[in-house]
Amino acid sequence: MSVLAGRHILLAITGGIAAYKSPDLARRLREAGAEVRTVMTSAAMAFVRPMTFQAVTGKPVHYDLLDPASEAAMGHIELARWADLVLVAPASADFMARLAHGHADDLLATLCLATHARIVLAPAMNQVMWANAATQANRTQLEARGVRMLGPGHGDQACGEVGTGRMLEPTALVAQLCRFYAQGPLSGCTVMITAGPTREAIDPVRFISNRSSGRMGFDLGAAAREAGARVIVVAGPSAEPLAAGIERLDVESAEQMYETVMQHIEGCHIFIGAAAVADYRPEAPPAEKIKKQEAAISLRLIRNPDILQAVAALESGRPFTVGFAAETHGLLEHAEGKRRNKRLDMIAANWVGRPGLGFESTTNALEILWAGGHVSIDQGPKAEVARRLIEIISERYHAQDSTANSGS
Ligand code: CTP
Repeated sequence: MSVLAGRHILLAITGGIAAYKSPDLARRLREAGAEVRTVMTSAAMAFVRPMTFQAVTGKPVHYDLLDPASEAAMGHIELARWADLVLVAPASADFMARLAHGHADDLLATLCLATHARIVLAPAMNQVMWANAATQANRTQLEARGVRMLGPGHGDQACGEVGTGRMLEPTALVAQLCRFYAQGPLSGCTVMITAGPTREAIDPVRFISNRSSGRMGFDLGAAAREAGARVIVVAGPSAEPLAAGIERLDVESAEQMYETVMQHIEGCHIFIGAAAVADYRPEAPPAEKIKKQEAAISLRLIRNPDILQAVAALESGRPFTVGFAAETHGLLEHAEGKRRNKRLDMIAANWVGRPGLGFESTTNALEILWAGGHVSIDQGPKAEVARRLIEIISERYHAQDSTANSGS
């Protein structure tokens, strides 16, 4: 089975003569098993008609940000969430400039701002435009933000010149995408991640919970999937979207999360405890709603099982185990204490209760600790921080693996 099977690829076409190759690209992506939806800029429609893509993909083509009918069918935010990967082919010089500067003046530019998915560009333009300092500065800026470039290739150009600026052929683009997924550092690995808060019932209508949104755990899931892993997310209640291609097991309470993790942990190579699991639960929630009678009532709370600790203590098939430490003070000391106590391979420590960090925030920064090592991940969007953390986890996971193998 192709590594593209089941991937949600949003194929975006911008204005350029290479757009005539894009329907063939769409067809080849589908042949490789990907689900393909298409977005076109208005300049692209001067070169190819939307009907062509509709026929090739079997799905309506999206091109208008302000059309209520198409927004009602599948709005730009929904499309941004649907995508596993956004492939802009051809990507014009103008589109690269608009993406580099964060424009949101048409459907494609807006989608690119709103997505957590990886963005890949297949540039196509006149060789002098490609070599121009402005285009190269935009390219450097985009690459620094994690946007990947496939091509451009070298050869004859539609304008009669010869040079670098041709869009790669559809077969080459599909092959490079396959390599991108197949060579991911976690290909062949199964990663389980807990995410979100838990809810501990007080009675049938009330619960104790916390401010976790689930975003960090979901972004880790997307990054691990992008790195080629099979990903299982055990999720507490969260309104956040989860990237395509991830197995999601929904739970409410810490006890349910514990049971679900233990049922599915066998065969997992890496476990990441990113959930904000309630440490305590009400001892005996009544079957009926508590009525307002007494002037004061007490809730007796009892300890929940520690999921992370239980996974780290598994005797057979113990995965590489990574925990989080959310702290309001003494970040490094508390995190290192938790790493040792719970016998973790690694811990990611983050401040909570500070602006722009931790719970309910779209950005985060982490301190990563393992036996004999420490790196910092600077503050950035959670999706970027998640990619970096997955890189560090896969490096340590493989390093440990090779140490274990060389010792045997
Ligand atoms: N965790 C877990 N199960 C629990 C409690 C916590 O799996 N019942 C995991 C979290 O997912 C996180 C790590 O343990 O990866 C640390 O959680 P945290 O609440 O910060 O630490 P605790 O060990 O619970 O200590 P404390 O609340 O005293 O800071």
